[in-house]
Amino acid sequence: MELTTHETLVPGESEAAAKLIAMLGNKMKKDAPPGGKIRRDAHPKQIGLLKAEFIINSNLPEDLKVGVFKEAVTYPCWLRFSNQNSPPAPDHVKDIRGLAIKLMGIDGDKVLEEEKHAKTHDFVMASADYFVTPNVVGFSKLITALVSGKFRLILYFLLHPRVTYRFLSTLKNFGSLLEARFWSVSPYLFGDRVVKYSLKPQGNEQTAIPEKPSDNYLRETMAQQLRTKEYCYDFMIQFHKDRQTMPVEDLSKPWKESESPFIKVATVKIPKQEFDSTEQQEYGDGLSFNPWHCLPEHRPLGSINRARRLAYVALSKLRHETNGIARFEPENFNIH
Ligand code: HEM
Repeated sequence: MELTTHETLVPGESEAAAKLIAMLGNKMKKDAPPGGKIRRDAHPKQIGLLKAEFIINSNLPEDLKVGVFKEAVTYPCWLRFSNQNSPPAPDHVKDIRGLAIKLMGIDGDKVLEEEKHAKTHDFVMASADYFVTPNVVGFSKLITALVSGKFRLILYFLLHPRVTYRFLSTLKNFGSLLEARFWSVSPYLFGDRVVKYSLKPQGNEQTAIPEKPSDNYLRETMAQQLRTKEYCYDFMIQFHKDRQTMPVEDLSKPWKESESPFIKVATVKIPKQEFDSTEQQEYGDGLSFNPWHCLPEHRPLGSINRARRLAYVALSKLRHETNGIARFEPENFNIH
């Protein structure tokens, strides 16, 4: 794959990515419930698959009218909220939470060959603004230790204190994921410039974690909140301004908002709804989100993203083929 002028090849990244995919595939099979379906390697626990609207700002200046943001229109979208832990754990266990967005009705060829003509476009985000390792070579070493047993993992953490600190500091508890902030973590093209994304709740409610939390309290709280109220997020972009202080190839360093503030470009509106039927849960399990499933103007950047291009397709195929389910891209909110 050709690099953009914003990127630099990390020595050993292809080998690291190939090893990572093999390890994660084996881990997915190992983490599957006995006799049950295999799940996503990361973010297997779906808190909720929600129907939402992605409303592009009506007053965007000309230089922000790029790709998806070209016209002031509203796109229907699916939102999938998740916990990262695999195998899935009770919601009160500290974790990274995920939010994947799938816009529908987006014209134009997409980057991924397999889904080139699909009218969907994905954004994949998490509840931290930095990654545990700077690049894919470091991440592959961490996963190697993780799949090699407790002793190797403890040794790895002792020998890599900064990774250990970042690993622990990204794990958090929330009262409600409708009140959490999310970041893209990794950079993306924005036309000929580079950005990171963030999604910020418009309200400032902070629901407390229940004193005796049930294993699935995040889903129960979300269902209860959406029964009576709509929730809105600001979708924002942060421009890359400096190669040293805002690296593209080192995701362990978040870009400072004081150096480049986030700019709102769209609103994500989640109307009141009932979402917690078994059918909708299964439909969400069958979806695939991929940061590379996007318009070329928003192409992902950096070694972690380059590895994700191979990993998400390979492991989504493994998941669907093993479970005997066809992969598909949705065209509307109908669940089939
Ligand atoms: C080399 C690094 C990474 C690898 C190998 C990786 C791998 C994966 C895989 C295999 C899946 C499941 C795909 C599927 O079966 O449909 C997944 C899902 C996900 N990943 Fe990553 N990931 C990486 C980095 C990241 C980063 C930096 C973020 C931060 C935004 C992230 C956030 C997510 C989220 C939110 C999901 C769940 C998407 C959904 O709801 O379906 N991942 N990842």
